[in-house]
Amino acid sequence: MKTPFRKRRDTAQLSDASSAQEVHADDPFFFGEEADTGEQPVVEAVPAQAPQPAQSQVGGLSDSGLLIDMRNIVKTYNVGEPSELTVLHGVDFRAAHGEFVSIVGPSGGGKSTLMNIIGMLDRPTEGAYAFNGEPVYAKSDQELAAYRSHNIGFIFQNFNLIGRMDALQNVAMPMMYAGVDRKQREARAEELLGMMGMGDRIHHNPNELSGGQKQRVAIARALANDPDLLLADEPTGALDSKTGRLVMDLFHQLHDELGKAIVFITHNPLLAEETQRIVEIIDGRIDAVRTPSGQRATEEA
Ligand SMILES: Nc1ncnc2c1ncn2[C@@H]1O[C@H](COP(=O)(O)OP(=O)(O)OP(=O)(O)O)[C@@H](O)[C@H]1O
Ligand SMILES: [Mg+2]
Repeated sequence: MKTPFRKRRDTAQLSDASSAQEVHADDPFFFGEEADTGEQPVVEAVPAQAPQPAQSQVGGLSDSGLLIDMRNIVKTYNVGEPSELTVLHGVDFRAAHGEFVSIVGPSGGGKSTLMNIIGMLDRPTEGAYAFNGEPVYAKSDQELAAYRSHNIGFIFQNFNLIGRMDALQNVAMPMMYAGVDRKQREARAEELLGMMGMGDRIHHNPNELSGGQKQRVAIARALANDPDLLLADEPTGALDSKTGRLVMDLFHQLHDELGKAIVFITHNPLLAEETQRIVEIIDGRIDAVRTPSGQRATEEA
């Protein structure tokens, strides 16, 4: 059978963007108050030995060649209220095109908060963010929603499928928002569900599917608009170890064969070891960045 996965795209190298121009408040990359330059992450989220690509100028800030380039991200909830809480304290997070990165760390440390900001679902209180060289915070909410739906696919622990729609409609939905006509979106949804081994379940509603099947539908949905980046927040967290293994293998396939960049939040240290870089977040700060073993865990992980 012909593989539905296409050939891997070229991937850019990681770079240390610390030599890039200073970020200023009037820069389109910048969001929030003047950056607090006094607060630096403990460890840069980039390997020290990473090569330096040629840099061009985009929007007044040098284009690092990275897919994700976030600087000094601060997130404070309930600003000015007694319940005010800062959960991210100046995080620098970067990822190359086609990179598979995991984010680990204790509960409440700010992983999902950071993921929501990477995914443009939420804006930080302070900080700068360039996605694929484009200044994210120069966009209006409406522009950002359209940009997000073309560039980022989300996968959650609890699948977040729409219960009253079958698998096909769930997967076709993001294409509807992207203006793809019905025939085309249903054909692509069917192809994607086939890729996920769900070709015989396309007219099942989520309540007629197992957890692993639901997650495969959710992954197909995340791929609908062929995004460069997949964001997965504990995608194996609600699955038994055997099913979690199958889902992890799908992520490897999407990374290896489609060249997708993946940011993968997990509480499973063995699964994190399978990715290309582990970023540990503790109390809203990057505590450590490690190169994993790359070894794949067994089903018992
Ligand atoms: N909308 C919100 N309003 C106020 N506080 C919030 C909000 N969302 C998250 N928080 C708080 O921010 C902190 C970080 O939460 P977050 O969900 O990012 O942690 P996490 O690292 O993903 O944890 P877990 O591993 O349990 O999923 C927590 O203290 C949480 O209570
Ligand atoms: Mg979380």
